[in-house]
Amino acid sequence: MIVKENVSLKELTTFGIEAKARKFIQTCNNDELFSFLKNNQSPLYILGGGSNSIFTSDFDGVVLQPLEKNIEIVNETPNSVWIKSSAGVDWDDFVKFTVERELGGLENLSLIPGNVGACPVQNIGAYGVEVKDTIIKVDGFYIENQSPFSFSNEECQFGYRDSIFKRSLKGKTVITHVTFELSKTPTLKTHYGNIEEELKNYSKTNIQTVRNAVISIRERKLPSPKVFGNCGSFFKNPTINQNLFETIQSSYANIPSYPAANQMVKIPAAWLIETCGFKGIKRGNVGVHSQQALVLINLGNAKGEEVIDLANEIIEAVRIKFSIELEKEVNIL
Ligand code: EPU
Repeated sequence: MIVKENVSLKELTTFGIEAKARKFIQTCNNDELFSFLKNNQSPLYILGGGSNSIFTSDFDGVVLQPLEKNIEIVNETPNSVWIKSSAGVDWDDFVKFTVERELGGLENLSLIPGNVGACPVQNIGAYGVEVKDTIIKVDGFYIENQSPFSFSNEECQFGYRDSIFKRSLKGKTVITHVTFELSKTPTLKTHYGNIEEELKNYSKTNIQTVRNAVISIRERKLPSPKVFGNCGSFFKNPTINQNLFETIQSSYANIPSYPAANQMVKIPAAWLIETCGFKGIKRGNVGVHSQQALVLINLGNAKGEEVIDLANEIIEAVRIKFSIELEKEVNIL
């Protein structure tokens, strides 16, 4: 177990805001994690890869990062392989591991920043795939009494960028392992966005080339946190009812949309933000990415209040223009 005091979280979070944790603890295995939880009395925040958390001020408690990094094949059926990964494994290292073994299911989720332990929390998704499509089980501990849990896919109550870990269990659990079922004979999903277009650069279409295509698209469209601190999509894509959709469409004939459950319509938040004139703008040390309006960026030494102010300015503008309430996807502390 690694224990440090008064640690800067700037390098530990991809948005890169200067804020300190009173204590920062990294546990290397689950025994360490268990004994830490048993003895801890302080406020606790569990950090994964730091790609979805923005600390806007110092944290007067313990920031804990589980670092166990095992990957294990736990079951095999004629068509699939079950793989159990520890929470501390880097997400894209895990995707690479599965693709190299020609196991399908996660290739469209290549290059998403973060750790495996965080993937079920917000049910990460990209290019027509959500991680819930492959999750069999999520294991961990309740923080309060250290009792273990093992949830089936259904028990995780997955939704769009949503799960039980963001709702009734928010702040109450530590995820230690996620088990995935991956296919030996996958059906590749290439219809979303410009994957098919990108695949023309390769002589074949297989799990590896789909991964390569997704990586190329992401590298082009999304800023590297090494260049501009960011958390990927800052807001969720909102879902609106048909009446509101038709009202907006009567003024904006080009509004993009996707069908959603219960006759609702999903609208890309990026389009709403761009149409409100925010794409590429700067406010002090924060801005809106010039290639993807859904991504807020740190232009260097951004302060927590600047991020909150810009996010609120965008929410307000979208509310006034479209009567749509944007919801933040990132966790602001
Ligand atoms: N668009 C704009 N302006 C922009 C960018 C996009 O108007 O600046 C419109 C276009 O109509 C475009 C549509 O928005 O067709 C969708 O854009 P994109 O395909 O880039 O996807 P997104 O809906 O903005 C979602 C995820 C991303 C994921 C991409 C690709 C959410 C909140 N975000 O973004 O996930 O990579 O799809 O599948 O659902 C993340 O969660 O951090 C993330 C990056």
